[in-house]
Amino acid sequence: MRLVLLGAPGAGKGTQAKKLIDKYGIPQISTGDILRKAVADGTPLGKEAKGCMDKGELVPDSVVIGLVKERLGQDDCKKGFILDGFPRNTSQAETLDGTLAGVNMPLEVALSVDVDFDVLLKRLTGRRTCKQCGQMFNIYFSTSSKEGVCDKCGGALYQRDDDKEETIKKRLDVYRAQTEPLIGYYAAKGILKRVEGVGDIEEIFRKICSIL
Ligand code: AP5
Ligand code: MG
Repeated sequence: MRLVLLGAPGAGKGTQAKKLIDKYGIPQISTGDILRKAVADGTPLGKEAKGCMDKGELVPDSVVIGLVKERLGQDDCKKGFILDGFPRNTSQAETLDGTLAGVNMPLEVALSVDVDFDVLLKRLTGRRTCKQCGQMFNIYFSTSSKEGVCDKCGGALYQRDDDKEETIKKRLDVYRAQTEPLIGYYAAKGILKRVEGVGDIEEIFRKICSIL
């Protein structure tokens, strides 16, 4: 399965991707996660990306496209992959199509997880993520059993730097202007599917599995 997950910040791309990894045995490629790790490790890539991420803007294509190409070339992607947070604009989408065509592995599905904007702010301000395994929780919607501790692996939970109200607003604007047009892009290619991303996480997952 070669899949792109589309959706606004907070739509639940990462949450659903984690479940798809277990079900399909294919890797999640989250450009956001890769960039956050580079920032935390203080690498040159992280230093370049941090300013854009803190402002809620996109990191330059030249940086992100290189990362994804390298990751897609790894062995575990041969049986498929879940792209989460990439592509984010038409130029990234076109480059991705070209890269995948070159290895005869075209995308099969672009799945848009649709959530109204008024729900997203609360999801993002309430999000807590495990430092160790990346599992997501939410202080409003899906709390961990012990505050600040991951149910899955016992790791510490943290709040993302870009989950502040002002930055979230900017991220939503960037999504509308640059990423939302990809819905039309993939519809024109005949591979777009959509799922309503509001409601119980397990129920949304069941709907996604039946679509896939
Ligand atoms: P990225 O990490 O990709 O962030 P994003 O797109 O803003 O999306 P999020 O990760 O915030 O949301 P999500 O859809 O994964 O939601 P989640 O499952 O966590 O990008 C961050 C930054 O990196 C960008 O701003 C940019 O600077 C840079 N970047 C990344 N990729 C780039 C690219 N390709 N090009 C250029 N720059 C790039 O869920 C959110 C919360 O809601 C959680 O708390 C979760 O528990 C909860 N939740 C999930 N589902 C439900 C539900 N059904 N009901 C209730 N709560 C729910
Ligand atoms: Mg995410």
